[in-house]
Amino acid sequence: MCVSVENISGCQLENEQVTVQDGLELLEFAPQQRPLLEEVVEGLTATEKSLPAKLHYDQRGSMLFEQICEVDEYYITRTELALMREISGAIGDALGNGCMLIEPGSGASLKTDLLLAAMPDPAAYVPVDISRDFLLESATAIADRHDIEVLPIWADFTKGHPIPACEAAVRSRAIYFPGSTVGNFSRSDAASLLRTFHAMIQEQPEEELSGGPGAVVVGFDCKKDQDRMEAAYNDSEGVTAEFNYNVIDRLADELGVALNRDKFSFRADWVEDEGAIVSRLWVDESHSVEMAGEAVTFEAGEAIRMEESHKYTPKEFELLAEQSGLGLEKIWTDDAGDFAVACLRPLSV
Ligand code: AVI
Repeated sequence: MCVSVENISGCQLENEQVTVQDGLELLEFAPQQRPLLEEVVEGLTATEKSLPAKLHYDQRGSMLFEQICEVDEYYITRTELALMREISGAIGDALGNGCMLIEPGSGASLKTDLLLAAMPDPAAYVPVDISRDFLLESATAIADRHDIEVLPIWADFTKGHPIPACEAAVRSRAIYFPGSTVGNFSRSDAASLLRTFHAMIQEQPEEELSGGPGAVVVGFDCKKDQDRMEAAYNDSEGVTAEFNYNVIDRLADELGVALNRDKFSFRADWVEDEGAIVSRLWVDESHSVEMAGEAVTFEAGEAIRMEESHKYTPKEFELLAEQSGLGLEKIWTDDAGDFAVACLRPLSV
C-alpha cells in the first residue's frame, strides 16, 4: 500500500496544507465554518425553528447512529449492505480499470470495502470528510485492508475541492455516495450536490479520460409504506430519539445554550409534500432560554426541525439527476424495492 499527495489538479485553495499523520499524507482544506453559535441562534430564532443536522455527528452521536443501523425497524443499512454484496461486482465492472474512487463524507464503511475489492485494478481511493480524526482513522483502516493508494482529503465536500494526483495512471474518476446520505439534503440541495459531483468527475486532466467520462454511484432509500418509513425513525428502543436529544445536550455543553431535553418530545413524521421523513423535537411546555445575550421563547406545541430524510422513487431520482446533467445508466434495487443504487453518467450535450 502506498499513500501520497503529490500535486493537485483543479483549483488551489489558499488554506491548503499537507500533513503527515499515522503514516498517511492528509490533504487539508481546513473547512471554513461559520461560528456554530451564530448558526444555532439563527436556526432557533427563525419562524420555523431548526438546528443544523450536522450537529448530530459528534463522537456520541456517531456511536448512536451506529446503534440506529442495528435496530430492527431501521432497514436501510442492512438492506443496502445486502444489495452491495450482490451488485458490487457489477458496479466494479461498470467503473472499469484504473478508476479513481472518490468518497464524499466517507465512513469506515463495509460497503466501500466491498466496492474496492470488486473494482478491477483501481487507481486510488480518495476519502473526503469534514471530521479530521474520523477521516484519518477510516483512511488508515482502508489502507491496511487494500493494496491501493489512499489519498485522504479533509474538507467540506459540499463546497467542492481539488482532487489530488496519484501514482497510478488514472483512466476515469467515480464518486461513491452510499448510505442514503443524499436523502439528508433538501431536493434542491441534492440537485446542487449532484452538480458538484458531476463537475468533479468531469474536471479531469486529458490523460485521465481514456476510461470514459466517469460515474457517480449513489445509494438512496426508496419511497415505501408510510408506517415502515415512520417506524424506522421512531424505533421502539428510543435510539433515534436519543440521537436527537444528544444534540440538545451538546448545545448546553459546548455552546452554553442551556436547552433542557426534558422539555421536548421527539417524533419523526412522513411529510408527503416534501417526500421526506422530518424529525422534530416538539416543545412540551412554553419556556425561554437565553442565547448569545437574548431570550428565545419556545412555545408549547411548536417544534425544532432536526433532520430531513428524503425518499425517492427510481423515476424521481432519475429526474433529479437529470437536473444536474447526469443520466441514469443502471439502477439496482433489492427484491422488495426498498433501497436503490444508481450508476449515473454525464449526459452528453
Ligand atoms: C445518515 N442518514 C442517511 C440517516 C437517515 O436515514 O436519514 C440518518 C438517520 N437519522 C435518523 N436515523 C438515521
